[in-house]
Amino acid sequence: MLTGAGISAESGVPTFRDADGLWEGHHVEDVATPEAYDRQPVVVQRFYDARRAALATVEPNPAHQALGRLEDVLGDDLFLVTQNIDDLHERGGSHHVHHMHGELLQALCRACERRTPWTGDLVDFPACPRCGHTELRPDVVWFGEVPYGMDRIMLELRRADLFVSIGTSGAVYPAAGFVQYAGQQGARTLELNLMPSEGSHLFDEARHGPAGVLVPAWVDEVLGGVQA
Ligand code: APR
Repeated sequence: MLTGAGISAESGVPTFRDADGLWEGHHVEDVATPEAYDRQPVVVQRFYDARRAALATVEPNPAHQALGRLEDVLGDDLFLVTQNIDDLHERGGSHHVHHMHGELLQALCRACERRTPWTGDLVDFPACPRCGHTELRPDVVWFGEVPYGMDRIMLELRRADLFVSIGTSGAVYPAAGFVQYAGQQGARTLELNLMPSEGSHLFDEARHGPAGVLVPAWVDEVLGGVQA
């Protein structure tokens, strides 16, 4: 299962590709690339500090909670990979979440390359608790960087008998390619999204509407089948 920004939209976390092409007032290339960080570290740190602080003001919605219920029943048979850097899946009851684009609540030290759980700001360039260097950056995967755990993801896509994509525009690779790969390996594929994504035609089935409605209804269907 793959999730994107759309699953957190009803919680009040903005999606990336709004109609004006801006992401909370910024062009994506101004804040989400290593080059942007090298050029304007304070701007980039402030941007992610604001997003991290905003997590305290949002709550998981029925879609996150439904996936938590699904994990309770399916256990390891469910592999949840998210492009989201928020922690709403975890707060919605999912215990095993593969954050392929990293996590806002982790800082990554550019000096020692170790991670530290982080809830505060990074704009003042605090010392890394592990090595003492002032090189902490948000532990998020920027454009041009390699998503985390691709080998594991590809393995799970090969093993899957069902691939579900929730709330993602299908605009960003490699995640946008998962549907074709899973389908070629024999999985049935299902899209749950507010509107048809760029790759909607690649799915065996697509349902369109808000995740807070579609996902709980789909989970009820699956659990009805499992428990019958
Ligand atoms: N319910 C379901 N889907 C929704 C909802 C909702 N309430 N609201 C919006 N959507 C859909 C939109 O129709 C869109 O197709 O969610 C999708 C969000 O798309 P994007 O903003 O492009 O987010 P995402 O696909 O997660 O972006 C992928 O791009 O900028 C990078 O690293 C960033 O992880 C991100 C990646």
